[in-house]
Amino acid sequence: MSSRESGKKLPHVTTRKLREMKGQGEKIAMLTCYDYTTARILDRSGVDILLVGDSASNVFSGHDTTLPITIEEMIYHAKAVVRGVQAETSRAMVIIDMPFMSYQLSSEEALRNAGMIMKDNECDAVKLEGGKVIADTVKRITDVGIPVMGHLGLTPQSIYKFGSYKVRAREEKEAEELLRDAALLEKAGAFAVVLEKIPADLAAKVTESISIPTIGIGAGCGCDGQVLVINDMLGLNTEFHPRFVRKYADLDTVVHDAVSRYVEDVRKGDFPTERESY
Ligand code: KIV
Repeated sequence: MSSRESGKKLPHVTTRKLREMKGQGEKIAMLTCYDYTTARILDRSGVDILLVGDSASNVFSGHDTTLPITIEEMIYHAKAVVRGVQAETSRAMVIIDMPFMSYQLSSEEALRNAGMIMKDNECDAVKLEGGKVIADTVKRITDVGIPVMGHLGLTPQSIYKFGSYKVRAREEKEAEELLRDAALLEKAGAFAVVLEKIPADLAAKVTESISIPTIGIGAGCGCDGQVLVINDMLGLNTEFHPRFVRKYADLDTVVHDAVSRYVEDVRKGDFPTERESY
């Protein structure tokens, strides 16, 4: 019997729980999520963390990058996801990405925006991209009690600076910087850090060097947990095939077949039947 059927809520995943999981070598499963219906399924399926990622800008809104999404749009998605989790077991932690330019101008503005996201949504934490440059901001936000997840490596909000989506930190200098940035984020109070598209041995080294959990995406199996974009792992995104995405379903084909049959039935007058009418 699922917890929904039994009407039971489960203990909510907290920052403390994640640290315990790292300590016990228990892997953390995180997925992105942008809407109510999917949030219900993911929470019911035992996902530990739902990330309302600014990848919504790509996979939900159809932009080429994550840069255009606004704080209002992120809050819209966040509210739907939180409602979905609350409608199910209420177990999954919900983290909201702070969008591009909502935290880079000053620590004051970052704090105001992080506070607005937390107040408006009943979510659990915010996520910011970057290392040394945002360490003071992370400290300012965590000091008032808002949990912050960091994000290092291929940080999509800096795509125009990088110039490509290639693997980051292959060179020693950048790898050293990344190790330093992870330590700085931990010192600033971050409770976890996403490591995106970096060599697996470097991600394992970062994971060993800090006491907060690392969540990898294209960073090998040495991280404390893994994250994927939900549309990629469900096979809803047919143009994107990086090596790090494992496709667990082919929903593009499933939905295409179902919709084609519906269109055919409507055109033939086979839908609705008498049993489907009043
Ligand atoms: O926005 C997003 O989907 C992310 C994940 C790739 C970690 O930041």
